[in-house]
Amino acid sequence: AQAPVNVTVTGAAGQIGYALLFRIASGQLLGADTPVKLRLLEIPPAVKAAEGTAMELDDCAFPLLQGIDIFDDARQAFDGTNVALLVGARPRSKGMERGDLLEANGGIFKPQGEAINAGAADDIRVLVVGNPANTNALIAQAHAPDVPAERFTAMTRLDHNRALTQLAQKLGVSITDIKKLTIWGNHSATQYPDIFHAEVNGTSGAAAVNDDAWLRDDFIPTVAKRGAAIIEARGASSAASAANAAIDHVYDWVNGTPEGDWTSAAIPSDGSYGVPEGLISSFPVVSRNGSWEIVQGLEIDAFSRKRIDASVQELSEERDTVRKLGLI
Ligand code: NAI
Repeated sequence: AQAPVNVTVTGAAGQIGYALLFRIASGQLLGADTPVKLRLLEIPPAVKAAEGTAMELDDCAFPLLQGIDIFDDARQAFDGTNVALLVGARPRSKGMERGDLLEANGGIFKPQGEAINAGAADDIRVLVVGNPANTNALIAQAHAPDVPAERFTAMTRLDHNRALTQLAQKLGVSITDIKKLTIWGNHSATQYPDIFHAEVNGTSGAAAVNDDAWLRDDFIPTVAKRGAAIIEARGASSAASAANAAIDHVYDWVNGTPEGDWTSAAIPSDGSYGVPEGLISSFPVVSRNGSWEIVQGLEIDAFSRKRIDASVQELSEERDTVRKLGLI
């Protein structure tokens, strides 16, 4: 029998955690043949709630779930782990400046990076979901010098999935008719959802839409501000859809992306498309043999260039801020 894969989830008692853990345990994260052991990390006041979720996981009698351990100590939680989903983060409170937010999250992602460096398995893969996700990933990575840099990624798959549905609904086509959509840049309101390289039943997404005003004034802001719209409607932030995107990201990372398509993920830049090396920025990516690769050779027109540059500029500024704070 296959050895179980150790999956650590931080913020396990939060709302994304609640939507995520059952899907991991059912086999959707890695595949239906792969047994899993869950390692849940929470802060002490939330450990009891995590224990309650673990009771419910037990009560599902998932055949693939081979154990659940709960920790309030990062070193223990990441010991021997193969997949780390860093969901728990410090949310922005009223009056908090961007620098304060990055500093507060540094207090979480620095020790977690150190703990991953100290004890995670050699094949460790890290997905940061907790916001500001790209820069939190950069902080964790900086404190895990023994782990290959490309194992640290941040989630833009939710943005990708949001964009897929907006485009499919506009064109009256199904999701499976659309290939090669891209989210570029930061997981923030500056992100750029690109339909110029997308293919819809063989033609370009932008040509199929043929409506510049919709693209500029409707599609791009709808995708970029969807998180706020969900909060407005639901009274709470996206949780099940975020968990779903985390499942998609890791599943594709481990199992590969389909031939003839790509997806979006924030991974360390190698300088492609003018994105400064080392920034964890969203790109068009394929997964082959367990690694993400940036899709090369796309022509970027002026409309896209301006928007990619603006989002990458924001990432550079976030990196400058965490450098000044001594967090990287
Ligand atoms: P939540 O507030 O319901 O849960 C967060 C959990 O993290 C809490 O249980 C808290 O106790 C825990 N936590 C805090 N500090 C921790 C630490 N140092 N170690 C372990 N656990 C810790 O929040 P929710 O809704 O689950 O969202 C989590 C994060 O995901 C937020 O930062 C949110 O902004 C982000 N998010 C990211 C998305 C993306 O597309 N990248 C989409 C949606 C949410």
